[in-house]
Amino acid sequence: MADPSDAPVGPQAIIRGMATRTSLSNVFPLGSRLNERGRLEVGGCDTIELAKQFGTPAYIVAEDDLRARARAFVQAGAEIGGADFNVVFASKAFPCTAVLELFAEEGLWCDVASGGELWLALNAGFAGERIVMHGNAKSEAELAIALDAHVGLIVVDNFDELDRLERLLDGANDDVVRRAHVPADGTAHVPSREMPHAASPTAAHAPRSPGPHVAQGPQEVLIRVTPDVRGETHEKISTGQANSKFGFSIADAAAAIARVEGIDGLSLAGLHAHVGSQLLELEPFRREVAELAKLGDFAVWDLGGGLGVAYTESQPRPPSIEEYVATLLAAAREHGMDAPGKRLLIEPGRALCANAGVTLYTVESVKRNVSTWVAVDGGMSDNLRPMLYSATYEAHVADRFGGSTPCVLAGKHCESGDVIVREALLDDPRPGDVIVTPATGAYGYAMASNYNGVPRPPVIFCREGSARVVVRRESFDDLISRDVR
Ligand code: LLP
Repeated sequence: MADPSDAPVGPQAIIRGMATRTSLSNVFPLGSRLNERGRLEVGGCDTIELAKQFGTPAYIVAEDDLRARARAFVQAGAEIGGADFNVVFASKAFPCTAVLELFAEEGLWCDVASGGELWLALNAGFAGERIVMHGNAKSEAELAIALDAHVGLIVVDNFDELDRLERLLDGANDDVVRRAHVPADGTAHVPSREMPHAASPTAAHAPRSPGPHVAQGPQEVLIRVTPDVRGETHEKISTGQANSKFGFSIADAAAAIARVEGIDGLSLAGLHAHVGSQLLELEPFRREVAELAKLGDFAVWDLGGGLGVAYTESQPRPPSIEEYVATLLAAAREHGMDAPGKRLLIEPGRALCANAGVTLYTVESVKRNVSTWVAVDGGMSDNLRPMLYSATYEAHVADRFGGSTPCVLAGKHCESGDVIVREALLDDPRPGDVIVTPATGAYGYAMASNYNGVPRPPVIFCREGSARVVVRRESFDDLISRDVR
């Protein structure tokens, strides 16, 4: 790591300072470098040593990178006029307690999209009022838990959800809430531990209805609108188009607003939209703001997430955090959304954590037919993105960068689609080599599975040369831990 005596001050300076000290591209975590032995260092830790100490596959995360990006978002938002500006971490990108705790410490809010994510956020220390509850198919139980946790905002997706909220706030159906938690066999189907700082989702701890939230004033909600704006991204992660499964159509927005206003116990705070994810251009965000502004004047505007990141050095450069936030603020200003008394929210996920993480693998075999197949000890169970979205990644031998042998980096799973990097350039890969794929900090851990009975990797936080396990590797025993015999 850098000599602390010349450490730059402030998040922007941290990012600039760290960037100038690395000979690696911006795809790698800030502060990464190739050390004197030609080995990749992340967070001051030698990745070959990390592989020896913690085994592979492993998710390696540079803690300072996460903090620097959080601070960059917050600082960029300080340029706002009179309104409040809050950065809401989309926890789906990396729903790991240590990551959530770090962002809570940095003063971010948290976007959750299920009862489970809500539980994780509360457990990690986010105050209920800093939580934004999402979901296009929220169950009665999830809504009850959100009300009971006094979340800051519930983002309403559809009319059926409004019916559910109305029933819950009526208190007419305590019963429904309880039934929603109890499967036919009578066992609790959600964690038995108490909901941190709130109701547990189990039958035994079913939230009261009406909950104490009634005494604390009405529940603030946002109406999620589908703005009919399409950004350029993979169709599976595009959400703003008219034919989307998310939110109310523009045509229905007025009726949804009127409906909320008619429900005792709910208070309409404003509107939400999310155009899509991994967007590399800023124009769709401008259009989103313009479309929302047509729907009226509100106190809260949540503009969603979506800022794209660099996965490979050769990919077009994504807008910086500063450019992105400045664009949103300028668009908001143009439409009076940043006036005093108003609140502007953004919900970055990927842009906060993708480039903070790398995955380490070990080569198990090298085989040549039409291609050179380099098979490693992980694959689609720890990174589903290449298979789901044809996402491209880089790969390198962690102590021999700059390779030129064209290889297919394949996973260990029993299907041909389990290819992590189709066109990797590696330096004479051999069994036992440690391979690194950068930019795996978002939606890798989040979408991991046990396919083929492969235990999920640990998460290792690295900072200033020290490494600590924040999520342990799964064991074979974990694979049968839910069995009921
Ligand atoms: N807010 C809402 C309402 C969202 O639906 C999402 C992402 C975000 C914020 C955060 O978006 P981000 O800033 O991370 O782009 N599994 C996919 C990504 C799915 C994103 C779903 N929603 C992937 O690996 O690319």
